[in-house]
Amino acid sequence: MKKLLALVLVLSLVLCLFVGCQPSTPAETPTEPAAPTDTEPAAPTDTEPATPDTEPAAAEGGLVGVAMPTNDLQRWNQDGANMKAKLEEAGYTVDLQFGANDIPTQVSQIENMISNGCKVLVIASIDGNSLGTVLAQAKENKIPVIAYDRLIMNSDAVSYYATFDNWKVGVKQGEYIRDALDLDNAAGPFNIEFITGDPGDNNINFFFDGAMSILQPYLDSGKLVCQSGQTAKMDVATPGWATDKAQERFENILSTYYADKQLDAVLASNDSTAQGVANALASSYTNDVYPIITGQDCDIASTKNMMKDLQAMSVFKDTRDLAAKTVEMVDALMKGTEPPVNDNKTYNNGTGVIPSYLCEPKVCTKDDIQEILIDSGYYTEKDLAD
Ligand code: BGC
Repeated sequence: MKKLLALVLVLSLVLCLFVGCQPSTPAETPTEPAAPTDTEPAAPTDTEPATPDTEPAAAEGGLVGVAMPTNDLQRWNQDGANMKAKLEEAGYTVDLQFGANDIPTQVSQIENMISNGCKVLVIASIDGNSLGTVLAQAKENKIPVIAYDRLIMNSDAVSYYATFDNWKVGVKQGEYIRDALDLDNAAGPFNIEFITGDPGDNNINFFFDGAMSILQPYLDSGKLVCQSGQTAKMDVATPGWATDKAQERFENILSTYYADKQLDAVLASNDSTAQGVANALASSYTNDVYPIITGQDCDIASTKNMMKDLQAMSVFKDTRDLAAKTVEMVDALMKGTEPPVNDNKTYNNGTGVIPSYLCEPKVCTKDDIQEILIDSGYYTEKDLAD
């Protein structure tokens, strides 16, 4: 066998000498020796599949649709603006829309993004259960969808989820109340009330249940008492996370249950609801002891309230970090590489677990405002001046 091979080799060499060495297998000859001419330096050939000419959007930016729920709340304005700036820096064109907290408006904004040729959609939903149909359209058009901050439920069109560790947000609020009231040592009992956000926002399950994972044992033991009896998530939810609805509910609670009682703590899932509670306390509470109120977002109104001791804490979620991570995700999807993910187990949207990136939330109290919010450049002193 070996001899036969050697013979074939010798024969072909001899043949080569006579005929001249033509490449026998084109695949073995790399393209570069193919006589580069000075006149046509970059002439793309049909054999190069992903030339910039054939897929300009992938190589050189492209249109990204960013749908935010509302511009009524400061955080979404900031999220939207941060993301737009960062995406543009990375070379993309951005269609940024705010949905006025109105589901049909958000749906039609997303439809427009799809028909305008967006290559990736980033969506912070108003109601996580209402986007199934429009996202089916995105899927048909092979447009990847990143759920931003709020998970979009029951749609298999959702490719990735960029958010904060929402469970941890709730845990930090619960721990803050536990430690501030010294629940493990003080005699108590202490009165507490609860308020969370929109029932259509999947995040409330994490915020509220995370906080309850800390506080429920103290309710069970009687160290914490909820005079209104409203401890179930759906009883303490606030449509649209609206400050006026939170205020209304707390005015009722305060006049019905706290006319002659002290309220020690309010677990509020975020700042817009915490502000409603603070407003209600200002109008309908006469006790000398002001309750501990939690919050989330460090929005300007609540940061000012912290400075005036009208809210004890907020959980800071640096929207610059979230925007930056989301931009990395978009960029990876555009370029066909792997988006960053650090959680593959927590967020099941009803169709399966959505690969997620969870950013870190941080507790912020009055004492941390300088360092966390001002020194980091999130706010200027002027932003927080009255
Ligand atoms: C966000 C919070 C925000 C709330 C109201 C939630 O989904 O995670 O940061 O305060 O919506 O807008």
